[in-house]
Amino acid sequence: MPETFDVVIRGGVVMTPSGPADTEVGIRDGKTVALGDLGASSAGEVIDATGLTVLPGIIDTQVHFREPGNEHKEDLAHGSRAAVAGGVTAVFEMPNTKPATVNVDALNDKLERARGMWCDHAFFVGAGRDNHAELAELEQLPGCCGIKVFMGSSTGGLLVDEDDAIASVLASGRRRVAIHAEDEPRLIERKHLAEAEGHARAHPVWRDEGTALKATQRIITLARAANRPVHVLHITTAEEIEFLGTVKDVATVECLPQHLTLTSPDCYERLGSYAQMNPPIRDARHQAGLWAGITQGIVDVLGSDHAPHTREEKEQTYPASPSGMPGVQTILPLMLNHVAEGRLTLQRVLDLLCYGPQRIYNIRGKGRIAVGYDADFTLVDMKTKHTITNDEQETKSGWTPFDGMEVTGWPVATIIRGRAAMRDGELAAQPAGEPVRFWDTA
Ligand code: DOR
Repeated sequence: MPETFDVVIRGGVVMTPSGPADTEVGIRDGKTVALGDLGASSAGEVIDATGLTVLPGIIDTQVHFREPGNEHKEDLAHGSRAAVAGGVTAVFEMPNTKPATVNVDALNDKLERARGMWCDHAFFVGAGRDNHAELAELEQLPGCCGIKVFMGSSTGGLLVDEDDAIASVLASGRRRVAIHAEDEPRLIERKHLAEAEGHARAHPVWRDEGTALKATQRIITLARAANRPVHVLHITTAEEIEFLGTVKDVATVECLPQHLTLTSPDCYERLGSYAQMNPPIRDARHQAGLWAGITQGIVDVLGSDHAPHTREEKEQTYPASPSGMPGVQTILPLMLNHVAEGRLTLQRVLDLLCYGPQRIYNIRGKGRIAVGYDADFTLVDMKTKHTITNDEQETKSGWTPFDGMEVTGWPVATIIRGRAAMRDGELAAQPAGEPVRFWDTA
């Protein structure tokens, strides 16, 4: 009897764990159930991937979707539409919403709201001032991807800046803790530099490399003492990369495409406060250091840090302008463009956007193309050229710092558990996102 599949993906180059292969993918009940020549079988639907490359579904492990509380900037529907438009099949969302995600009610509220999301999802719980004892329990809840600590003030009020308090967070629970590493005392001490300049070009001066390095060194000391793994987010300096390369037994590392693509001072002169984010975009020397971290395997994952603010908010005079920029829709196109320009291989992009997220967050059944895994795929045309525009952005904020940039390589379909969430730029009629599952949680 020939086998029957719900969907067969045919004709593409499939990025299997063994490397690129001219093979077919058979999908049933939302899972990949066969890889190989499926010619004799029947399928409810055939996706013709001729000329395309079939990637595992792209996982963006750092987004801020602002709901609840700041829906004028973004919400779960718009943010997740931006995700699938850009080829992203799952996102991990940050806790600096209003209210902040610091207890079980806030987490369950987000999971309830997330029924309206177009992509799969999980939510971070924030370490607050008085929830440390509960974190061990909170991190085990279904739909939670882990605990997030802000060591330096950014958007929202979440902050755990003193060593004793950070140690008490690290003592509660076992999963990897995600860290925003900027040193709060140094930020306070240097704020006057931002105020004196009144332009975003001062952002990397105020929040300088020492601010980042000091916090990164502090968190590694604390993580070692607690014997707790940490994931240091959005690394921006050459010195941090060098240091993190010596502590891979306790820390994993994230970089962002923004820091790999834009450089100071040009970005601030061109984009003003639209280029303002925390930690800041720095000069070419630091960018070269980040690329060395990619080449040398020190960087484990890339996230977008999708952090929308309205144009009106961004156009306030610096430093009243808020930090952050949209990115979930452009993370994959930017990285495909870096592949086209020869800065890294497609295999390494998958290591950073699929295998890395799976490995460091212990994701169940996602992050690779393999029998038994969720049928999550991002189909890309590696050759096509496309100019990124503000108009095509699905984010509620309606802008991207990459407006007008021509890239080579473009996502043409986003398949989540066997269903097309995006095809040829058209999004599915209905949201169908589900919570991501983890080996650590029930
Ligand atoms: O620039 C940033 N914006 N960095 C962060 O850490 C937070 C984010 C936001 O939520 O706006």
